[in-house]
Amino acid sequence: MNILVIGSGAREHTITWKLSQSPKVKELYAAPGNAGMAKIAHCLDIKDTDIEALLKAAKELKIDLTVVGPEAPLAVGVVDRFQAAGMPVFGPSKAAAEIEWSKVFSKDLIQRHGIPCARSAAFTDYKKAIEHIQKQKPPVVIKADGLAAGKGVIIAESIDEARQALTGMMQGKSFGAAGDRVVIEEYLAGREMSFFVFTDGKTVIPTVPACDYKRIFDGNKGPNTGGMGSYTPPPFFNSTLGNIIMKTIMEPTIMALADEGRLYKGTLYGGLMIMPNNVPKVIEFNARLGDPETQVVLPKLKTDLLDIMLAVVDNRLDKIKFEWRDEACVGVAMASGGYPGSYKTGFPISGLDDVDKDILIFHAGTKLGKNGEVLTNGGRILTVVAMGKDLAEAREKVYKNITRIHFEGCYYRKDIALFK
Ligand code: AMP
Ligand code: GLY
Repeated sequence: MNILVIGSGAREHTITWKLSQSPKVKELYAAPGNAGMAKIAHCLDIKDTDIEALLKAAKELKIDLTVVGPEAPLAVGVVDRFQAAGMPVFGPSKAAAEIEWSKVFSKDLIQRHGIPCARSAAFTDYKKAIEHIQKQKPPVVIKADGLAAGKGVIIAESIDEARQALTGMMQGKSFGAAGDRVVIEEYLAGREMSFFVFTDGKTVIPTVPACDYKRIFDGNKGPNTGGMGSYTPPPFFNSTLGNIIMKTIMEPTIMALADEGRLYKGTLYGGLMIMPNNVPKVIEFNARLGDPETQVVLPKLKTDLLDIMLAVVDNRLDKIKFEWRDEACVGVAMASGGYPGSYKTGFPISGLDDVDKDILIFHAGTKLGKNGEVLTNGGRILTVVAMGKDLAEAREKVYKNITRIHFEGCYYRKDIALFK
């Protein structure tokens, strides 16, 4: 089969790498891809949201399955367009993906169906939002409604800070149009975890759970990023908690979407807070796999990923047996100096071939230079991943190897999967 993966991050590199292990795959394509993906796939110079160009390429290249990695193409309806053209595609429709691209829709759905989450209210009127804020007890969580690359959330420690955040979002347009509507919600103090399921809209199968690190600096300090590292399994996770999450959150959500005429197919990502007494609550849903969680989840998957994705498309996920490796897995993101603020790109990356044989390197912002050298080309550059018998061993392997990779200004957190 010929497969096209849409996207260019380390998540998409991981998906492509996993698909490349399937005996059913003939040719792999990536749009637009990166220097790492170029080693295992033909990269097409097409933007991930250019639906018509993607469809044209998929038809010309006789693509048998297109896999959508990031949220932006889902939000503009790439899946609907491919389906209308009779091209098999893995991912939710635009209407189903609204669970990610509108926090207001998502919150309404969750609350309408009694799925546990933080109490919240939505506002388009600035004055009413300010009035509401005055009545809250800090910390207060304020979220821009639309997509903001994971950065549209402010946790205000005081009412004053909350007012400022609201003014910035609704009047200062700090997140552009994404902030025209805001959600103000209760702060949940618990343990955060990412939980993914594969679903064909009927059968819902969990993957292994993972935790990610959103802040740029060690000790969870500094501004939010796209994610600086991740690990699996979370030490506080067990199968009882997994069952509670499936029964109270993931299955009811897939059912709720189906009931409302938005059949959900693909992967659904529950961003969860585990409250005392093993009570999970939803922070947010995403309509795709997480980045950098995918980089530690998919290496543990023994089952053929292509078989799973085809079963989702063909509504027979109940026929697939999922198998997972037992090891722990840790991934650390290397970023350009200055990220998530401004940074320079175009620096050569050295040491990519100097790591131990069992280390995985997934590329994000990289491109090939004129002589085939790998250059930096973004904020987050690579995720370096290792497995081990436990988190401590996996972590040690990653950090031993990451020092062998270098580019000017490179930065990574030193405390991923470190528990004191
Ligand atoms: P989101 O983009 O909704 O995932 O939010 C970004 C981050 O803000 C999350 O990963 C959480 O760490 C934090 N967060 C969001 N909502 C809440 C909440 N209601 N209570 C506590 N932390 C939250
Ligand atoms: N790991 C956060 C995200 O993918 O949104």
